[in-house]
Amino acid sequence: MKLLKSIADLKAFRDTQEGSVGFVPTMGALHDGHLSLVYASNMEADTTIVSIYVNPTQFNNANDLDNYPDTLAKDLSKLEAAGVAAVYLPDYTQMYPDDFSYELNEKSFSNELCGELRPGHFTGVLTVVMKLLNLVQPDKAFFGEKDYQQLELIRGMVEAFFIDVEIVGCSIVRENDGLAMSSRNLNLSQCDRKRSPKFHRILGLGGSDESIAMALKSAGFDVEYVRTKSGRRFGAVRMGTVANPVRLIDNVPAR
Ligand code: PAF
Repeated sequence: MKLLKSIADLKAFRDTQEGSVGFVPTMGALHDGHLSLVYASNMEADTTIVSIYVNPTQFNNANDLDNYPDTLAKDLSKLEAAGVAAVYLPDYTQMYPDDFSYELNEKSFSNELCGELRPGHFTGVLTVVMKLLNLVQPDKAFFGEKDYQQLELIRGMVEAFFIDVEIVGCSIVRENDGLAMSSRNLNLSQCDRKRSPKFHRILGLGGSDESIAMALKSAGFDVEYVRTKSGRRFGAVRMGTVANPVRLIDNVPAR
């Protein structure tokens, strides 16, 4: 597995690839959800490239960025075992030579759901994904459905800017108790980890969004939103402490 630390390394590697290239962008702290994207890419493309970059422009909260788990050595061994051809590990100066003077802004859906309480989050996501797609030039790029709003916004961006890449959405991977896998789960206390599967269970019940939000509150979750849109119910809750909250998101088919 090649480690590509500069744009020059990435371009040199990309130039040697004759078949199709699948791309899995990540922020590291890899779990089985990420690996499912890698396996999908391995199936659908000749070569898989993964990027690991904790993108600061998509964090609207400095604490969240500081607490984002860093497990690089473990991540690299998981990717090597999964048969990844190359891992791109950029840094801020490479990704933002303009120091984030330029940004990619979606004006509608990005302000709803997760965007409502995290202003600027999707601008950071779309900006970095556009940069990564331009650099990696993949035939297909793989994203998880846990971040359903992100996936939809990336599909919209690719269409709006005529980017020649197929965006592939992959199903949510869950722990045995139903909790959607997420890098942030590593930050849950033992007690919160035990309670956390109730989020998914309650989100999947029938009833109005308001009744689901009430049920989540009664179960002790700090509810950010519960909303049904286009046949899916989306939710975000906070666990942990006020100083160090752990944010969980999930979505299920609406009943
Ligand atoms: O889903 C993520 O991990 C990130 O939002 C992404 C797509 C890698 C962009 O930083």
